[in-house]
Amino acid sequence: MIVSVKQKLAQLGGSAEIKKWDQQRHWARLTAMKYSSGNFHLGHWWRGPLLYSLVQYYKPRHILEFGTGRGYGALCMGQASLDAQFECTIWTIDNVPPTQQQEWAIDEGTGPELRQLTLKQVWDKHFPTKLTRRIKLLTGDSMSVMRLWRHKRRPAIDFCFIDGGHNYWTVKHDFIAGLDVARSRCSFLFDDYTERKGYGVTRLVNRDIIPRVSRGAVEVLDTCSHVDTSDGSVVHRMALLNGMQVDTIPLGQFYSPLTVKVFVPIYKVYSYSRNIASCLRAKCLRGMALPIH
Ligand SMILES: C[S@@+](CC[C@H](N)C(=O)[O-])C[C@H]1O[C@@H](n2cnc3c(N)ncnc32)[C@H](O)[C@@H]1O
Repeated sequence: MIVSVKQKLAQLGGSAEIKKWDQQRHWARLTAMKYSSGNFHLGHWWRGPLLYSLVQYYKPRHILEFGTGRGYGALCMGQASLDAQFECTIWTIDNVPPTQQQEWAIDEGTGPELRQLTLKQVWDKHFPTKLTRRIKLLTGDSMSVMRLWRHKRRPAIDFCFIDGGHNYWTVKHDFIAGLDVARSRCSFLFDDYTERKGYGVTRLVNRDIIPRVSRGAVEVLDTCSHVDTSDGSVVHRMALLNGMQVDTIPLGQFYSPLTVKVFVPIYKVYSYSRNIASCLRAKCLRGMALPIH
């Protein structure tokens, strides 16, 4: 079932009017703008209003986000809890540290530009501490961070946004790791439910999730159809596994213990070899970029 973002916002009690989401659009210009082929665009900024409305609807006490990026999703979720005045902590994981400079497309009100900025710099300048202190930034790859979740006595989660590595193995790892620390009735939102080379969200949702849950428990959300695309929005879909509707199989038993036992070491090897390959690639590129005297 494909639902447009406008329909979903209305269903959640949020507004489908673009004007009502000025704050999120402004934040997207600070934290979610993209730059490609000489153009700046906002990409799928509608995930901000969607996350905001989902958080106000489910009122989760603890949220887990895989993939902080520059923080747009986490900030929108945090603001939703502040506005609705309930306690909420957002635990968000990224392998890029908040103090590391990255190429950052930003429009601070004077037009879009490409700069080298850190997440900390942008957040300190533009976002109030009453919002950012609700967000716990966890640095590392999702496997290392999640392995220590219980050891660090972190809490069970009520809502999970999976938006880190998008290949099938990483999405599956993040889903399993999320399930492992989820309370029953926890909902999961997957970004990039799309048929794109190297993306595995569609495969995971279609093969591993939909056949195991009751009809209607998974909704595909079209975050760009029926909305104004004059800001350069692109076709984009997300998938929502509604924990309130999962009654055919308890979330905690999604995968058999044997599947998990076999999957984890395979993913470890896969993940380490990918990391080594990308380090070697980066070293080679650095070597090629050395000036010749
Ligand atoms: C699309 S961005 C996240 C956007 C963010 N959720 C938002 O709503 O603005 C994906 C992020 O995931 C991070 N990432 C990718 N694979 C990861 C992994 N295995 N562990 C931790 N972070 C990862 C990347 O560094 C990147 O910043």
